[in-house]
Amino acid sequence: MNESVQLKIAVLVVAAGSGERLGHGVPKARVPLGGEPMLVHSLRGILAAGVAHQIAVAVPTGDEALRAIVESLTVEAAGEDSPQITVVDGGSTRAESVAAALAVVDADSTSVLIHDAARPLTPAEVYHRVVKSLAGGALAVVPALAVVDTVKTVTQAPAGSPGVELVSGTPARSQLRAIQTPQGFDLATLRQAHSHAAGLSAEESAAITDDAMLVEAMGVPVYVVHGSAHSLKITTPTDLLLAEAMLQGPLAPRWVEG
Ligand code: CTP
Ligand code: MG
Repeated sequence: MNESVQLKIAVLVVAAGSGERLGHGVPKARVPLGGEPMLVHSLRGILAAGVAHQIAVAVPTGDEALRAIVESLTVEAAGEDSPQITVVDGGSTRAESVAAALAVVDADSTSVLIHDAARPLTPAEVYHRVVKSLAGGALAVVPALAVVDTVKTVTQAPAGSPGVELVSGTPARSQLRAIQTPQGFDLATLRQAHSHAAGLSAEESAAITDDAMLVEAMGVPVYVVHGSAHSLKITTPTDLLLAEAMLQGPLAPRWVEG
């Protein structure tokens, strides 16, 4: 990619979650997909995109099995132009895991992409769109899909009501987007956003659900590029079934853009 010639990109992979909702009893990054751990797919996707000069992976503290998985992939990928891959201990929240990975980013990097290990099938095209936007001057960029469901806001219904919640509003669907990863940032901007976030209260921190929100809070414009249906986040057993089908079926994610 031409864009990566001007930018020096570190890709942070957050893989330190427990995968509670998937319910496999092991950290989600280790759960098999097509016979291999989910994290292997995520890392292979990043290597195939060819945009990283460095990859930092946050795994659950003390998870030697995941460390070994990353190390064996490092050996497999070893080559002249291959990125350096570093493993760090993640934290108890996603934001802490991002911060742990951010701490090992090379000082001469210009940009950072932050990716969920739980999105193992993200096509290379999505990485390329994010990088192109950064190369074009964006300080922050997120991949997105249009929302297909009608989305409503709710409040809790009073006790004794004939339902658990009450609808309080319906935002125009045409303006709603479901945001995916990798999210791309100018390194200095992201570092500034993280130090800004260090001053937030616990309640405010809990309300931060993605990295772009931190940058939005500083008033920095966040650009949007097209995401992909193949970039789904595996959260529940249904998502895993869908991902297995995507790997095996005729719409193989590496070749067909969703
Ligand atoms: N993540 C992380 N560190 C945490 C929590 C989450 O690195 N303390 C990562 C996950 O590994 C995942 C991504 O953030 O790649 C998105 O999180 P999510 O889908 O919620 O994964 P889990 O937290 O593992 O799942 P659950 O919430 O069901 O336990
Ligand atoms: Mg979680």
